[in-house]
Amino acid sequence: MLDRLNAVKESFLKEIQQLKNKEQLEAIRSRFLSRKGILVDLFNELKDVDKEIRPQVGKTLNDLKNLMQAEFGKAQKIFLSTGKTESKIDLTLPGRMSFFGRKHPLTATLDEIKGIFTGLGFRVEDGPEIETDYYNFEALNMPKNHPARDMQDTLYITEEIVLRTHTSPVQIRVMERTDPPIRIIAPGRVYRRDTPDASHSPFFHQVEGLVVDEGVSFGDLKGVITAFAHKMFGSDIKVRFRPSFFPFTEPSAEYDFLCIFCHGAGCRVCKNTGWIEISGAGMVDPNVFDAVGYDNERYTGYAFGMGIDRVAMLKYSINDIRLFFENDLRFLEQF
Ligand code: DAH
Repeated sequence: MLDRLNAVKESFLKEIQQLKNKEQLEAIRSRFLSRKGILVDLFNELKDVDKEIRPQVGKTLNDLKNLMQAEFGKAQKIFLSTGKTESKIDLTLPGRMSFFGRKHPLTATLDEIKGIFTGLGFRVEDGPEIETDYYNFEALNMPKNHPARDMQDTLYITEEIVLRTHTSPVQIRVMERTDPPIRIIAPGRVYRRDTPDASHSPFFHQVEGLVVDEGVSFGDLKGVITAFAHKMFGSDIKVRFRPSFFPFTEPSAEYDFLCIFCHGAGCRVCKNTGWIEISGAGMVDPNVFDAVGYDNERYTGYAFGMGIDRVAMLKYSINDIRLFFENDLRFLEQF
């Protein structure tokens, strides 16, 4: 029996030293240490050993058991931990780059617009996107049957409540709560019933401008718009005003910037006109002053609109307004 114990010990130690993989480790466990393994068999045989030498054999067997368990434990530790290292962590892989967020091109453009106008002494104001018919139309000199309402495809919530079609209603809200002098811009989202295409979206963004004081003239309006064009697109960008009509301004104009791509020579973006249409502007109509209770003999003022999406498209050479609203990271990551 003692010889057998010795033989078992030797073959166990040999196998454990030559161990190569997890499967072999499991095979050793099963052959020597499992419930049907050699060690259990040996313990079962102990009762048949001569009484006299049984204590000695029993002790040797116990020592063998302890040795085998200790050696197996060591092998298991080394083997399973290196196995783990190999399968889960590859130290040769390059690290992952951290992801930096950035401003949406519209936000960046609006920040720049705000920066320019606040530098010219304007305050930034805000108004609701869900507006009443009164603020969106009526107080801006567009009564219910006014033909100018046709210019805007309005999204009505009820007969009296609309999604604002422009930022001009903020003019009224500001004048109702403030006395002149006023010098504000009001940026925000506006809504129209448009079918989306490269230049139309059912919602887009405008900045409204309003200045009211004694002695404000059309010349001041031209000066401010020109200063803006120079700061935004460069001092060689000329501005031109064309006569137009808006119910809330008199006289009214539309203003264009010299094409920032061809500088007037004519290109695809300006459709060979050399100019890019920006928005409308004009002197505040006396009827609008009446609606807010301003003395229209004493005060004059100018107002202007501006499309933020349009300015951003020019600034970044973007040819499809829908790109701003699709949240495609391949687009957004370029800014
Ligand atoms: N609200 C006009 C629009 O959405 C733009 C506009 C024109 C604003 C003339 C003005 C203005 O303040 O004076 O088309």
